[in-house]
Formats: sequence, C-alpha cells, structure tokens
Amino acid sequence: MDETSENRIVNEGADDVERAAEAALRPKHLKDFIGQSTVRAQLDLVLSAAQNREVTPDHILLAGPPGLGKTTLAMIVANEMGASLRLTSGPAIQHAGDLAAILSSLQEGDILFIDEIHRLARTAEEMLYLAMEDFRVDIIVGKGPGATSIPLTLPPFTVVGATTRSGLLPAPLRDRFGFTAHLEYYEAAELEEVVTRSARLLNVSIHKEAGAEIAKRSRGTPRIANRLLRRVVDYSQVHGDGTIDLDAANAALELFEVDPQGLDRLDRAVLEALCRRFAGGPVGLATLAVTVGEEAETVETVAEPYLVREGFMIRTPRGRAATPQAWEHLGLKPPSDDTLFS
Ligand SMILES: Nc1ncnc2c1ncn2[C@@H]1O[C@H](COP(=O)(O)OP(=O)(O)OP(=O)(O)O)[C@@H](O)[C@H]1O
Ligand SMILES: [Mg+2]
Repeated sequence: MDETSENRIVNEGADDVERAAEAALRPKHLKDFIGQSTVRAQLDLVLSAAQNREVTPDHILLAGPPGLGKTTLAMIVANEMGASLRLTSGPAIQHAGDLAAILSSLQEGDILFIDEIHRLARTAEEMLYLAMEDFRVDIIVGKGPGATSIPLTLPPFTVVGATTRSGLLPAPLRDRFGFTAHLEYYEAAELEEVVTRSARLLNVSIHKEAGAEIAKRSRGTPRIANRLLRRVVDYSQVHGDGTIDLDAANAALELFEVDPQGLDRLDRAVLEALCRRFAGGPVGLATLAVTVGEEAETVETVAEPYLVREGFMIRTPRGRAATPQAWEHLGLKPPSDDTLFS
C-alpha cells in the first residue's frame, strides 16, 4: 500500500494533513492492531482458513463508530492476504455504471474496500448483490429500447465494507457478508497502548502518567487518542523540551477543551442543549441537532454513541434524554420531579 492510494480515501471532515498523519500511524498487520480481541480473533480465523484453502476470503463487513479502525482493518486484510486493495466509497458511487467500471476491472483475489457502504445508490446496491453472490455483473450497453445487457463473469474477489450505521444497510446487502465485525469502543488501557505506540513512531518520549491521561480522555477512540497526542506533542515542544509529562498533557488537553471525562465541545453542547434548553428532554434528534448547529448524522454517529455508553444520555421512544449524570457533569441540579428515572 503506498501513500497515494491511502490518500484517496474519501473522508469528509478530515483534512489532508490529518489523513497523512493517520496513514503514518496505521498498524499494517493484525498482530500490531491493538485491542478488539474478539474481532481480531474472528478475522484471524477467517483469513487463515481462506489462506489454507487457497481461496479468497468471504465478504467482510466492518461496523462501528468513526475512528475505531475500520479503514485500518480493511488495509490489514489486504496486507495479510498479500492482495491488492481497491478503495472506493458509497458516496463516490453515484450510478450503477460507476460500480460496473470498478467491478469489471477487478483481478482475482483483489480486496474491494467500500467505505460508508450504507450510502451506496440503490441501483449500485442491486448490482453489488449480484456481484457478491454470483461474481457476475450485467453491463448495460446503449440506451432506451435498444439497450442490451451483457453478462460479465467476475474473478473471485472480496468485498470489505465499512459502515458507521449498520442499521441503515438493507437486509439483502447485510446478508451477503459472510462475517460482520462489530468494533467496540476501546478500554483506557488499550488506548494507552495506542498512545505509547504512536509516540514511539513519532519519536517523542512520554511519561506513563501522561499517556494514561491522554488515553482516559480519548472517548474510547484511537483516532482521537492519536489526535490528542499530536496536540500534546505540539504543546510540549513549544512550552518545554519536547518530553511529554503529565503537566504538559493536562495543559494541552485543557487548551483544546477536552474535559477530564473526554467530552469535547460537541458532546458538551449536546448535553447543555438537552439540560438547559429542553429541561432534560426527551427531545427528537433533529431538533437537538439544529440546536447545536450540527448535522443529525454527526450528532447520531459521533456524539451520541459515546454519551449513551458513558451514561450521560439515554434514547427513549420519544427522543433523547439527559441522565442525572449529565446534569451533574454540567454542574447543574437534576430536576427533582424527574419522572424518567424515578
Ligand atoms: N486497533 C488500533 N491500534 C492502533 N491504532 C489504531 C487502531 N485502530 C485505529 N487506529 C488508528 O486510528 C486512526 C483511525 O482509524 P481508522 O481510520 O481505521 O478508523 P475508521 O473506523 O475507518 O473511521 P471512519 O469511520 O471515520 O472512517 C488510524 O490512524 C489508526 O492509526
Ligand atoms: Mg475509515
């Protein structure tokens, strides 16, 4: 895998500098992938079995919140199989023809990575079912009544799909994956390993307590751990001798408004809106998103899963609601007539 192909990944919201920095820190082998022991064992089995049988592995779906390692794992799959990786994404495929062009150029054993696969156009989705199941694609030639379809047989290949919203995948598409890996938020100890590894790769020295503090505030997410580490490195190089100690870590994290529980501006804005504007809720996702000035999808995939997991927020049939812990976190008193938690 070379730099340029990694840089082709469609990743809205991340700039080029960010992407290059991420590429440099990606583990290349399954054994270097930290945490996710269940997924790692499952994937190891699927890949080893395919290697033993000398076949291409079953199609693999990687599901989980942003920044937990889906793209990294897709690259690891290709690397471990010694296969070449073709990268595309749901939003990049606007028409079935775009997908047909990619499918018809695949070589035997290729790994086709489709990021954000839940955003594929409907017509492309149907073409993909056929390709995944029967290794066949119908190429349409011409237009209108004179159009003919030419069936084309594809060589065996593996689709690796990634999604932050597996609930949005239509069942027929989900069923065509032989294995779905559900990535979970990382434990603090695992993130500490991520930070230590990244510091080593960046050639900076870091005290253990500083690594632990960064890990604790990284919302269970390796991408955030790496990003916070880079800011802490900046801070310690500007304000110190470049060695990262706990004071430097704390000062940098405060500067970038990451609080001791790891909540960032968006997380806090969501909780503030819930408690102050909507008296704790419940309030609908769309209303909440408008109030904090974000897309509903961002609130739902980025902020909400972590807030729910950490017990700051719950989802009810009538909308999102703040827990007593959310009120406390903001230094507010929970309403005493709260019927939701009595
Ligand atoms: N298990 C891990 N061990 C070490 N580093 C990791 C691990 N998982 C992710 N990372 C690091 O975190 C960063 C983000 O990972 P990645 O891009 O794979 O996330 P993603 O799940 O594809 O996110 P998105 O949904 O936004 O595309 C990468 O730079 C990678 O170095
Ligand atoms: Mg990704």
